[in-house]
Amino acid sequence: MCGIVGYIGKRDVAPLLLEGLQRLEYRGYDSAGIAIHASGKTGGLKTAKAKGRVRELESRLPKRFAGTTGIAHTRWATHGAPNDENAHPHVDAEGKVAVVHNGIIDNAAELRAKLTADGVEFASETDTEVLAHLIGRSQAEKLEEKVREALRHIEGTYGIAVLHSDFADRIVVARNGSPVVLGIGEKEMFVSSDVAALVSHTRQVVTLDDGEMATLKADDYRTYTTEGSRTTSSPETVEYAAESYDMGAHDTYMHKEISEQADAVDRALRGRIDDRFSTVHLGGLNLDAREARGVRRVKILGCGTSYHAGQIGAQMIEELARIPSDAEPASEFRYRNPVVDPDTLYVAVSQSGETYDVLAAVQELKRKGARVLGLVNVVGSAIARETDGGIYVHAGPEVCVVSTKCFTNMVVSFALLALHLGRIRDLSVADGKRIIDGLRRLPQQITEILAGEAEIKKLAGLYADAKSMMFIGRVRGYPVAREASLKLKEVSYIHAEAYPASELKHGPLALIEPAMPTVAIVPDDDLLEKNRAALEEIKARSGRILAVAHQEQEKADHTIVVPKNEPELDPILMGIPLQLLAYHTALSLGRDIDKPRNLAKSVTVE
Ligand code: F6R
Repeated sequence: MCGIVGYIGKRDVAPLLLEGLQRLEYRGYDSAGIAIHASGKTGGLKTAKAKGRVRELESRLPKRFAGTTGIAHTRWATHGAPNDENAHPHVDAEGKVAVVHNGIIDNAAELRAKLTADGVEFASETDTEVLAHLIGRSQAEKLEEKVREALRHIEGTYGIAVLHSDFADRIVVARNGSPVVLGIGEKEMFVSSDVAALVSHTRQVVTLDDGEMATLKADDYRTYTTEGSRTTSSPETVEYAAESYDMGAHDTYMHKEISEQADAVDRALRGRIDDRFSTVHLGGLNLDAREARGVRRVKILGCGTSYHAGQIGAQMIEELARIPSDAEPASEFRYRNPVVDPDTLYVAVSQSGETYDVLAAVQELKRKGARVLGLVNVVGSAIARETDGGIYVHAGPEVCVVSTKCFTNMVVSFALLALHLGRIRDLSVADGKRIIDGLRRLPQQITEILAGEAEIKKLAGLYADAKSMMFIGRVRGYPVAREASLKLKEVSYIHAEAYPASELKHGPLALIEPAMPTVAIVPDDDLLEKNRAALEEIKARSGRILAVAHQEQEKADHTIVVPKNEPELDPILMGIPLQLLAYHTALSLGRDIDKPRNLAKSVTVE
């Protein structure tokens, strides 16, 4: 949500920052802007901003816009409408300070009132502008001190980068709750909210902690706390190469990421399976066997798609480890003063590792002394750092705003956790082996499902005229239905509802008619006959049915047949064709697939 990028070095900065913004656009895309230290005699700061996508900004850059130091931002509006004025960077009254900011300043209204009373005129409705004025008005000598002084007045979250025309040799950055990553180059330095904007230039990065600041000069950087004490941070090497962030031969990131799932699952399994004991090694859990045996409940917290992965995960843990488990949206959990039980293992699940609601839930749990694990994709992200241990899901970079491969890898990672906990408790060697064999079959079975894309595309064409769709599933199939329904609505904008198949006759059956098709998850498990009965009920009301099943379903108008795995692992496979269904439906409706309206990846605000 909102992306920051900055550069200091010898290269022409504007094209470099624009390229960085393109890579960050998935974090927010309602407006963008750039500020540079202008080279040449006049010097000083120059800014350019535009409502809309980064390409709008590019087309609006003034002819003379040369410099070798600058900061830029792509926005997802929180304070004030998306327009030119509210786009970042924001400048102070004298035009000497430029600030880009991710996060929310909670006391912005109060600070704005004080500054206005002092005669400051605001040019935007944003919270960020307050910060530009505070820095501009500081009497401190050094830029670092000016920024520090301004931040003392701020309550809320921020990742910021600051330019000052009197300090053209540096960029000052700070972090509290919103990611800031430094990219360390050869006589050039980068800063970004996300490694995606850095990896084409350097894979050496330093991730700032909350409460940390940094000064970047072309040939040097130093990090320190907001109180001014030096911190030591040596660069780490980013795991993925620049190409992992490119679209390659695909037309959209969503398609690329759906197609990568066999490899992604393979990565999640690699080096973790222990055939000797029919279990898995999860090195980062930091939970020994005795502690694992002491767990009496598992509570999984996540948002959106990750919450759905958590619902499947909870069922897996309950089935394989026989530990009572459930999942809850982190956004709800944190507001209901939850009872925190010392024998409960909490698991925070998040692709970005930045989602504010999940992070806040983790912090609340930690404050109350709970043990919290993370199931996270982005290495070194805030949630990964806040938790006591965890599992990286190793899906690789996910750029499309809607999550696909990461969902699949989260569910696979939950299967690993369930197996691990199960084998420490009462899951037999034979069952452990059965699950391991099933996990090993997944990549090949995913490849088989993806090979059926042309057929799924045809089906998408048949259902794309629907105004509304129903998704149903029973027990293991229900979270699959929920995720498939979310995927369809967010990328195609077709209204979709998900219901447990068992609940149909308790109300939603009233909606069934030819114009309301149903997608039904029908695995060949012990509930097959019950699911078939639901299909009969729908057919009797002239409803159209698309089934995802292990064999053709007589009552369905169409069936997508998926390969069968172990019953506990079937949910991993049954969702995949429905990702393609959502994708092709959206494509046929001409939607902006990678950047659906009103959405942004990494929701770092409440
Ligand atoms: C939907 C989607 C969102 C995210 C949710 C949590 O396709 O991507 O629902 O799953 O915003 O994000 P993370 O997983 O980054 O915590």
